[in-house]
Amino acid sequence: MNNDFLWWRDGVIYQIYPRSFADSNGDGIGDLPGITGKLDYLAQLGIDAIWLSPFYPSPQADFGYDVSDYKNVDPLFGTLADFDQLVAEAHRRGIRVVVDLVLNHTSNQHPWFLESRSSRDNPKRDWYLWREKPNNWQSVFGGSGWEWDQTTGAYYFHMFLKEQPDVNWRNPQVRREMLDVFRFWAERGVDGFRLDVFNVYFKHPDFPNNPRKAGLALRAFDRQWHLYDIDQPEMHPLLTEIRALLDQYPQRYAVGETFIATPEKAASYCGPDKLHAAFNFDFLFRKFSAADFAEGILKWEQALGESGWPNYVLSNHDQPRSATRYAKGEDDARVKVALGMLLTLRGTPFLYYGEEIGMRDITLKRHEIQDPPGKYYWPFYKGRDGCRSPMQWDDSPYAGFSNAKPWLPVHPNYTQRNVAVQQNDPHSLFRFVQQLLALRKAYPALQRGTLRFLLPPKPGILAYERTLNEQRMVVLLNFTEQVKTVGVSSPVGSSAGQVLLSTHGVQESALNRPMQVHPYEVRIILA
Ligand code: GLC
Ligand code: CA
Repeated sequence: MNNDFLWWRDGVIYQIYPRSFADSNGDGIGDLPGITGKLDYLAQLGIDAIWLSPFYPSPQADFGYDVSDYKNVDPLFGTLADFDQLVAEAHRRGIRVVVDLVLNHTSNQHPWFLESRSSRDNPKRDWYLWREKPNNWQSVFGGSGWEWDQTTGAYYFHMFLKEQPDVNWRNPQVRREMLDVFRFWAERGVDGFRLDVFNVYFKHPDFPNNPRKAGLALRAFDRQWHLYDIDQPEMHPLLTEIRALLDQYPQRYAVGETFIATPEKAASYCGPDKLHAAFNFDFLFRKFSAADFAEGILKWEQALGESGWPNYVLSNHDQPRSATRYAKGEDDARVKVALGMLLTLRGTPFLYYGEEIGMRDITLKRHEIQDPPGKYYWPFYKGRDGCRSPMQWDDSPYAGFSNAKPWLPVHPNYTQRNVAVQQNDPHSLFRFVQQLLALRKAYPALQRGTLRFLLPPKPGILAYERTLNEQRMVVLLNFTEQVKTVGVSSPVGSSAGQVLLSTHGVQESALNRPMQVHPYEVRIILA
């Protein structure tokens, strides 16, 4: 029935932060065998692909986003054999595997950097960005982007931590090495790549100062216009080269993390000879409001036009979780509305581990903070540890994540909020997400159907239809705590509509007369 299924377009991608998903060897840190052990759970949930945040050898200065060897696995997470097994077991269950490539910078412990810093005439000197004098470019994580290095008496540039020196993508050897990283993992059977901050790979060759931007932003980084350190034109031909490489393998995928980008900018990096997708983080910063989300959706659809394929994200490892932002206390009604939207829009949904059980961020005291920017900006910004706490599997000590004290505290709500409890509760968020994923699988209109809004979003309700050939689905999402009355017409000759899902047990629908939608109800109708 659904032979045209294309996993990265029609499927749902689930992000795993390996440190925090499942610990198989009792050191308090999640690992690859831990993930393999949970593949049945993920298959049961109904996702189509997993994206693994970095598991490569790393000093862990930025918890793996500082890579010291692109072609191996950190002993903390397992071995290459564990990785191969994870891929094989995932594939056996029809789950694709996306890995995270952090190619803008390496760790300062990467052998390339150790060589590069060792002398001015080292053959790898030009592999990084060395200058006699700093310009005004800033580090995202605080302070100047330039670090003085005593050995050779020069500065190197780091957009993130000083432990993450940026490589020189203009150097042809660097370019070759990096492209080879794609090949290495594609050959191992990896299905896709998430490109960490890809739009900062290139810097202006003359290193001009960035102009100042007015305003009172916390980070000096945000008080500049990033004309010369982000979004340089050289990125476009590089993406074409990367795409040509990926297209040598069947159904490979690349999604870029577009750093501080408008939807238009993100869209400009996508296309048949560029990336399959680039993240649009619009939803991460939206209020819980129908009108607000509608605005974000329309902007994104418009920016991508006919040829691009949207994607939507409500949570990731860098931002407070959707439930933290939208829920009231422990109640999940609003989270259901948000996830109901995420999973029925036109575009690839990304779920973040634990989002399916409504995990909330943990709150940490100052001495517990692990994330470097959290330490730097405290108390104005507390970092990203909050959304990285251990997965809550059951109510045993440490939530079934590990039998030792985890690297970050488990959320105190774990005794009530965990996978085991929610699997047994027909009204849980988990069961709701599972049901939605099953609906997506059964109805291709929910995957690649067109999207049309049926009502102006003003009165707090989102109503849209998804249509593919003869299949028409109507989605109603009430973002308010009031009953809303809506009229949605059904096409001439069609039946009154069959309710496939309602968070409030509504069973009958009569599309042609006004319908009452309950507070925070999610209703999906086959029209
Ligand atoms: C991206 C990652 C973030 C990391 C940064 C530097 O923004 O999502 O976690 O710290 O890049 O690699
Ligand atoms: Ca472990």
